[in-house]
Amino acid sequence: MRFFVVQLNINILMAAKTIIITGGAGFIGSHVVRLFTKKYPDYQIINLDKLTYAGNLTNLSDIDKLPNYTFEKGDIVDAAYVDALFDKYKPDGVIHLAAESHVDRSITDPMSFVMTNVVGTVNLLNAAKKTWHGNYEGKLFYHVSTDEVYGELHNPEEFFLEDTSYDPRSPYSASKASSDHFVRAYHNTYGMPMVLSNCSNNYGPNHFPEKLIPLMINNIKNKKPLPVYGKGENVRDWLYVIDHARAIDNIFHAGKNGETYNIGGNNEWTNIALVHLLCDLMDSKLGNEVGKSRELITYVTDRAGHDLRYAIDASKLMNEIDWKPSVTFEEGLAKTVDWYLNNWSWIENITSGDYANYYNEMYAQR
Ligand code: NAD
Ligand code: DAU
Repeated sequence: MRFFVVQLNINILMAAKTIIITGGAGFIGSHVVRLFTKKYPDYQIINLDKLTYAGNLTNLSDIDKLPNYTFEKGDIVDAAYVDALFDKYKPDGVIHLAAESHVDRSITDPMSFVMTNVVGTVNLLNAAKKTWHGNYEGKLFYHVSTDEVYGELHNPEEFFLEDTSYDPRSPYSASKASSDHFVRAYHNTYGMPMVLSNCSNNYGPNHFPEKLIPLMINNIKNKKPLPVYGKGENVRDWLYVIDHARAIDNIFHAGKNGETYNIGGNNEWTNIALVHLLCDLMDSKLGNEVGKSRELITYVTDRAGHDLRYAIDASKLMNEIDWKPSVTFEEGLAKTVDWYLNNWSWIENITSGDYANYYNEMYAQR
């Protein structure tokens, strides 16, 4: 039985299926839900989301009337609720994105990261295990994780590989690393069919404006200071969110049971170079004088424990599964800026109310 499970060819998941996608109202989850509902009309997609500050159903307003889409508001930390939901839908697959995702928030409130990212993941694994009851044919638990579990890089020649040792350094990355370990432990101990991916920094439409790129777009438009942490020398590897969703689709359908895949854009930028690029792009889109927005750059106190550099080697994914990024960074960033400028009410709705209080408190401390 065990041997059979390990050999499962997950291509059979192409047949009509019911899939629970967690965190589907968030940034990346909403792009995954859109891709799956539109590309696979035979699949029933259940979006399970608590609608925290980061969840926003307007992200899905263009697809929420599709007959193969259902929204369920609920908390993955509530084990009884999760069990009942799995009993109701008896899913064939789970794509798990729900998480507390912002590193700065994890520094001020680690426990909410432990609850959602660790306890929530184990609740989903338990519910899947109970529902599938050892009959794993055609079943798959896909856990969406981050490159931050690998820690930070110093040598410019080095990249994160799938077998790079875990070295999480923030409460956020420690909680994601823990959830990754639980998913692999359920595979090893109970034979749970799973795939796991570790992706680099995403950007694109619907990105919550506490994260670097949308925060800078918002502040440039509003002529507010642009807070660059430390000296702006930290490096991130940026990937357009729709390319992450495409990778998740390909791994879900063609990934090998029990395997991990790194996903990245091979697109490293120091924060300060990226902020310069964004300032210049926004100035040209807004018809500002050249160099105007760069005057808003303000160096602020660094993030505690700030990881220096992340960089992904995605060659396993590119060689074993057919995937590569579909847009260059310049194209993706231009599309992103256009989306924000054309959908300004989206950002205005989010930045009024609770988020405005969070933002003011956060930057008052820096
Ligand atoms: P996000 O913060 O934009 O969205 C998270 C979603 O999860 C929200 O809709 C929220 O309402 C929901 N959620 C939070 N707690 C919940 C709970 N207890 N129960 C049910 N739903 C809950 O996050 P994101 O940036 O879209 O990230 C999605 C996933 O991808 C996360 O697991 C994150 O670790 C991972 N990831 C993100 C990036 C990135 O650059 N954003 C990169 C790599 C991996
Ligand atoms: O690497 C993948 C990770 O990328 C995901 O797992 C996380 O969920 C996601 O939030 C992101 O984490 P980062 O911490 O890299 O993203 P953030 O946008 O918060 O910060 C990007 C870089 O910009 C980082 O070096 C910190 C810096 N920064 C961030 C903010 C919000 C600033 O200089 N100023 C800012 O105001």
